[in-house]
Amino acid sequence: MGNKTFAIIKPDAVKNGFTGNIYDRIIQAGFGIQGAKLIQMSLAQAEGFYDIHRSRPFFGELTKFMSSGKCMVLALEKENAVNEWRTTIGSTNPADAAEGTIRKDFATSLGENAVHGSDSDENAIKEIAFFFSESELI
Ligand code: CMP
Repeated sequence: MGNKTFAIIKPDAVKNGFTGNIYDRIIQAGFGIQGAKLIQMSLAQAEGFYDIHRSRPFFGELTKFMSSGKCMVLALEKENAVNEWRTTIGSTNPADAAEGTIRKDFATSLGENAVHGSDSDENAIKEIAFFFSESELI
């Protein structure tokens, strides 16, 4: 069980003014923040990050959306971080997300679902390394 996960506050949430609210939820849920930065992904960067979904029908829509505006990328720390963060954000589709989760409160749709969370310890390490150099992780 690892103690790191990777999160994105996605372009819909930043545009809708929810960055501060979501940052608060991260702190309230007991995560430490090892790294955080505001970026805008290029299309190529979004395609690289979501490479695992390249053959899916929604890949074009997803990568266009993820490169459409500012987002905040975060390296988070907590015991059992991957599962803890997935519980904090709720189901991928906000229509299925539990009460009190980030996606229930701040997401718009399946495609524009406010936040990302790693699905395994292995992917958490890869995803953190995709966006952060070692010197950016404190
Ligand atoms: P995320 O946790 O960032 O991982 C992959 C993303 O693909 C997911 O959140 C959704 O935003 C998106 N996604 C999954 N299924 C669909 C779909 N059917 N249509 C559009 N986007 C989707």
